[in-house]
Amino acid sequence: MSYTLPSLPYEYGALEPHFDERTMRIHHTKHHQTYVNNTNDVLKDFPELAKLDIDDLIQNLDKVPVDKRTFLRNNAGGHANHSMFWIGLKIGTELQGELKSAIERDFDSVENFKEIFEKAAATRFGSGWAWLVLKSDGKLAVVSTANQDNPLMGESISGVSGYPILGLDVWEHAYYLKYENRRPEYIKAFWSVVNWDEAAKRFAEKIK
Ligand SMILES: [Fe+2]
Repeated sequence: MSYTLPSLPYEYGALEPHFDERTMRIHHTKHHQTYVNNTNDVLKDFPELAKLDIDDLIQNLDKVPVDKRTFLRNNAGGHANHSMFWIGLKIGTELQGELKSAIERDFDSVENFKEIFEKAAATRFGSGWAWLVLKSDGKLAVVSTANQDNPLMGESISGVSGYPILGLDVWEHAYYLKYENRRPEYIKAFWSVVNWDEAAKRFAEKIK
């Protein structure tokens, strides 16, 4: 068993002009592929772990020896995060239904939620991710993680917890070719390509 790079459910240029074709292609075929390859490399010695779903694997990092743990955390995290990221992108969806109601309940308004999310994404120093997560108490929250950490890794590793509903990659590799150093512009562009249908599906699956 080994992990494989998932195909994108759209063309590399499908998110133009917001997320550009060249960035999407390099991001997927080079960056994500490297996380997959590195994860497979380290798991050669742990075939049982390689059978796990990637989201399960990142919740079981303590199953590998300490000297391999950080490498696996970074690369398996990268595979998990990007796999979710790609299917979370689509032009033309609309926030509605239960997820919209829950966002309004927990952030007062959609506008306020977006402001909080944008701030979390913009102020993540260096490389990392911004997330909308569903906490164990049933409330939504915005958090951010460093590097390729994922909220599923838990407080003791990523510093945060919760089930990811939305994730935004704020590594420079996600935006530098088009937006150069203007991360806030890239973050604003995310709202034009966020797949609210996928987010709503993740939310609905978790609250039922
Ligand atoms: Fe990335």
